[in-house]
Amino acid sequence: MDIATNPSNPAGNPEMADAAVEPHDPATIFRNNYTPPSWLVPEISLDFDLGTELTKCVATLKVERNPDGDGDQTLHLCGDNIAVMTLKVDGNDAEGWSMSGSNLLLPLPGSAHEVTIETHLHPATNSQLMGLYASGGMLCTQCEAEGFRRITFFPDRPDVLSRYTVRMEGPKDQFPVLLSNGNLADSGDGADGRHWAVWDDPWPKPSYLFALVAGQLVANRDTFTTCGGRKVDLAVWVREGDLERTDHAMRSLIASMKWDEETFGREYDLDQFNIVAVSDFNMGAMENKGLNIFNTRYVLADPETATDGDYDGVEGVVGHEYFHNWSGNRITCRDWFQLSLKEGFTVLRDQLFSADMGSEPVKRIEDVRILRAAQFPEDSGPLAHPIRPDSYQEISNFYTATVYNKGAEVIRMMKTLAGDDAFRKGTDLYFDRHDGEAATCEDFIKSMEDGAGLDLTQFRRWYEQAGTPRVTMQSEFDQSTGTVTLHFTQKVPATPGQPNKQPVPIPLKVALFDRDSGTHTGEKLLVLDKARQDFTFDGFAKPPVVSVNRAFTAPIQLDAEAHDDDLVFLAANDDDAFARYEALQQLVTRELLGTIEHGPDEKRRGAIAEAMGKVLDDDQIDDLMRGELMMLPSIAFLLELAAPANPVALHEARERLKGHIGTRLRDKLIALHERASAVPYGLDADARGARKVKTQALVMLAAADQKEAAARAAAQYRTATNMTDRQGAMMVLAGIDCPERSELVADFHKRFEGNALVIDKWFSLQANALDPKVLDTVEALAKHPDFTIKNPNRVRSLYMTMAGNAAAFHDESGRGYRMIADLVLALDPINAQTAARFIPALGRWRKIEPGRAALMRAELERIAAAPNLSKDTREQVSKSLD
Ligand code: ARG
Ligand code: ZN
Repeated sequence: MDIATNPSNPAGNPEMADAAVEPHDPATIFRNNYTPPSWLVPEISLDFDLGTELTKCVATLKVERNPDGDGDQTLHLCGDNIAVMTLKVDGNDAEGWSMSGSNLLLPLPGSAHEVTIETHLHPATNSQLMGLYASGGMLCTQCEAEGFRRITFFPDRPDVLSRYTVRMEGPKDQFPVLLSNGNLADSGDGADGRHWAVWDDPWPKPSYLFALVAGQLVANRDTFTTCGGRKVDLAVWVREGDLERTDHAMRSLIASMKWDEETFGREYDLDQFNIVAVSDFNMGAMENKGLNIFNTRYVLADPETATDGDYDGVEGVVGHEYFHNWSGNRITCRDWFQLSLKEGFTVLRDQLFSADMGSEPVKRIEDVRILRAAQFPEDSGPLAHPIRPDSYQEISNFYTATVYNKGAEVIRMMKTLAGDDAFRKGTDLYFDRHDGEAATCEDFIKSMEDGAGLDLTQFRRWYEQAGTPRVTMQSEFDQSTGTVTLHFTQKVPATPGQPNKQPVPIPLKVALFDRDSGTHTGEKLLVLDKARQDFTFDGFAKPPVVSVNRAFTAPIQLDAEAHDDDLVFLAANDDDAFARYEALQQLVTRELLGTIEHGPDEKRRGAIAEAMGKVLDDDQIDDLMRGELMMLPSIAFLLELAAPANPVALHEARERLKGHIGTRLRDKLIALHERASAVPYGLDADARGARKVKTQALVMLAAADQKEAAARAAAQYRTATNMTDRQGAMMVLAGIDCPERSELVADFHKRFEGNALVIDKWFSLQANALDPKVLDTVEALAKHPDFTIKNPNRVRSLYMTMAGNAAAFHDESGRGYRMIADLVLALDPINAQTAARFIPALGRWRKIEPGRAALMRAELERIAAAPNLSKDTREQVSKSLD
């Protein structure tokens, strides 16, 4: 961070300035204030003279007055931590220009000009990881959402689409590989060991999709021939030693390309497709046109270092970024309020892809688990916002579970309402109608109405209103007529800025089961669109057992009045795998919430253990599903229902219930662990399922018999041939005070020293431990030589994990809260985007009992009082305190 003394830096001290120059009350931007750009930039050429310390960039913009603009003669160009070195208009030194804050204002006399701007960049000291930065000696970019303005002055908004030509030049030994968007047009060697490349992207794109990579990289290459006969050269670029871990990413890419042709009729449109893995990255990955840049954790996988979950992550994210080529790039967003247009839709597309590649019901359960643990808390807290927000201060704060995951759920509901074939007609029309445009969520909805034949008038409220709808259901049986009436109510709770809500259309798949035969007469789709609504069914001799929101057709909190026996029945008999899972989850949830109120219910605990026993015995379900059924609801989800609550009490109740089940099912769990341990390694569903239940069996056993579990976990670790088994064993061991623990924690580190992604796991495993001394461990790990605050993966592996470990984070002393606040204060000047991501954990104080809530608030206040907070962190902190 010694940029201040760098004489070649005309802007002074860019990184520190990031934090310092922001006004204290940052401007709020409103969706309804959208106006079209005054000037368009049909073409841009960028010329980079590459260096890690200093990169020179010359940008030549062909600008044209927008006939649909407001006629402003001044060209407004965004800038962020860059300075103008030279500025020319039509080849002559520009006159009359000025700076407005960090933006450049250039009055122009005519309606079309050529503007040339030189800027100087300092990748090595760019710790924010936005714009052009250095990562492990290579140069790479991240421009979404507003990083391009850190490279050159530009109308950095997604509705300005340009054709890009990029030339880059640099020392060949340092940067043997030179990549940018589109197709390689030309390349050659220069004097003094330098070389250059020219990349040409024929597809007009917004600036946030620009990318450049330069470095010492090696490629895993393959080809794909599209349905239209285009032969595409594929490459996954990584650092030398990582090449053997790229096969799964390449397989996933090819599968994605094929799947998008078959499922959505989308064909790839360039001759090259490049993926590059970088180890310093703020998010998961980025869909730059033809040049996707990835966090290494979503590219690299081999059995020894990646878990089955990691393999799924690679497949899902490779798919996600590839699918953006149509949902995001060919059709982009008009403005950032429309972010869910591309993200919600693309998440749905990647979910459907992963479901097709593996098990559909298991994927659905996983997606719902994430929604409940991450999105529901957001939607009921101080940062709640609609999937299409109305305002923001810092757009980076809106890459949220709401925009992404709830956004996907909303489009999934359209699919449920339309049916698969009509939904496809809707997406076809959308792609056809808006190809090449910067579109809005409204454009998508309209295409769905016209193409799929839906009336989405009321449905639009899902885009307008924040908050998870609460639905209640009571069933009433009339013996004399054999009629069942389902009484529903719905209420969308108040959220910040939205005190009054309207009912939304809620599609609910329902089945009514006959108690004796265990069967039903067919699933029905109900659409609940009023505050109160009844549905009647007849032909029943006895009150049926009602299964509602099967497959989780709507992202709601359902409070269905069901007898414990009915939940037990559904857990055993429901033919919808999700509903079966859900019944058991509800039964467990009821027991845990009851326990913290008035102690355990012996009868219900018995029923849960019995139902779980059936799950272990049932040879009709595969192990991947069995593993899901064995997991108890997360503390984050339980807190939504119990709030305000003592999270540690909830955690303890959950552990005790696990102990009860573990004791009752001890023999079955040991038998399951034995059976699963005998299955050899493979990537097929059976072998993966075996690994999943193997660790779940240990988890349950550990709560009942620590000695037995420790011995089995240590043996599992020692004989592990793969990371799934090794990490599972270590997770269990980390929570047991036994001699093997420290020995194997040390062994793990020694074995994987130098492999950053596995060392991340080593940090996480310890920060996640069910161990009363975990906060001491975290404090010590922060001083470990492998810890660095500069790498987002490492920071998250230690601190995000701790913040998600309820017993640690919510330690009565407030020490967990203090550690997170200290981290935010230290990280904010270095990487504001990543720092701001830690605020929601503290911002959840309203869900927590008053004593802890006060401690959480105090930490937020301490952060808020710090001088020079970034816009990112300031927005999140001030909203969390309101
Ligand atoms: N569009 C990317 C994705 O979801 C996310 C990139 C956002 N990056 C950021 N720094 N805000 O695929
Ligand atoms: Zn995305």
